[in-house]
Amino acid sequence: MNTRVWAYLVLAVAVVCVPGCKKKEAAPDDPNANQESKEAAEMSVNQESFGQTSEGREVDLYTLTNSNGLKARITNYGAILVSLEVPDRAGKLADITLGFDKLDGYLGTHPYFGAVVGRYANRIGKARFELNGVEYTLAANNNGNHLHGGDKGFDKVIWKLEDLKTEGNSAILRLSYISEDGEEGYPGNLACSVTYTLTEDDELQISYEADTDKTTVVNLTNHAYFNLAGQGTGDILGHELMIDADKYTVVDEGLIPTGENRSVTDTPMDFTISASIGSRIDQVEGGYDHNYVLKSGGGSLALCARVYEQTSGRVMEIHTTEPGVQFYTGNFLDGTVTGKGGKAYEKHYGFCLETQHFPDSPNKPDFPSVVLNPGQKYRTETVLKFSARQ
Ligand code: BGC
Repeated sequence: MNTRVWAYLVLAVAVVCVPGCKKKEAAPDDPNANQESKEAAEMSVNQESFGQTSEGREVDLYTLTNSNGLKARITNYGAILVSLEVPDRAGKLADITLGFDKLDGYLGTHPYFGAVVGRYANRIGKARFELNGVEYTLAANNNGNHLHGGDKGFDKVIWKLEDLKTEGNSAILRLSYISEDGEEGYPGNLACSVTYTLTEDDELQISYEADTDKTTVVNLTNHAYFNLAGQGTGDILGHELMIDADKYTVVDEGLIPTGENRSVTDTPMDFTISASIGSRIDQVEGGYDHNYVLKSGGGSLALCARVYEQTSGRVMEIHTTEPGVQFYTGNFLDGTVTGKGGKAYEKHYGFCLETQHFPDSPNKPDFPSVVLNPGQKYRTETVLKFSARQ
């Protein structure tokens, strides 16, 4: 073989296998292929193609794996967490997030499966707010209100790969996106990044950073739908949940906070002591879709919630720097979306715990502020820690 052929071969290997990568993996066409017992794995990162958008733009799929076999797949389309494989009490892996096998599913309409949601996650009442005396109008894409960043939020844009590596006890992926001044009606060029870090302690850390050149509002979250028994296996009503919050933000019929933070005591909203999600859900009109006011108050990393699923033994514990969490029980899933492995996602087939600032904060001066000024750094972090009970 001559030198040029060798050079091409070396280049081709470098393109599919970034530093830290131990092996090249097949595309996740068959979700059940991952349900076998975990094999001894090494901490690794991997990059492969996830297809193209309708405009012909290339989209990637990144895999972070730790040596216990935990595996997170993330695409730079919407910075979406595509799958998360976690061992049960016998060490058997299952993908515990709802979503699609192929990019096409994410390009169509779907309820934000696994996506990073922004510039403002959750609702802004009447799709407007004021900053320094200037009124900004946004897309009214949810019953006259603004939801999850508008018509084309951060879940529908291609993020740029900044870093993909193993370092110490972590596999790290950092993606960035610049949201231009006026995009979806928001002021200021917002430069943001999201970093997914999978650790040897079986944690998936998700951290966000942003800065702006004009005063703006920011609220970023990840919108993963979980089923700890395995995605598509049934509803999540038997999962046991604890939320470290003794208040929630009361909402009107459009799910916009009225401004009142009400005690959960003696109501079906109370998850201060672990209870099954389904135990009182029929007393909550429409199912849970509420923002809880965390006891921690936000600011530093603190306990947010813990979820336990008995048949698998899987436990997910969430810590966050955010002051709130939206607990949503997949009330609008109705079997019309077919997800990974051909599973139809019925009502309550997944739950979300979206760590966040409170809904409609731009119009609620008493809520923790979501305003970001030039020169300030937006920084938040949420950690999902996995384990299994015998
Ligand atoms: C909201 C729900 C909404 C869902 C999907 C959640 O964050 O609270 O009301 O249906 O996202 O858009």
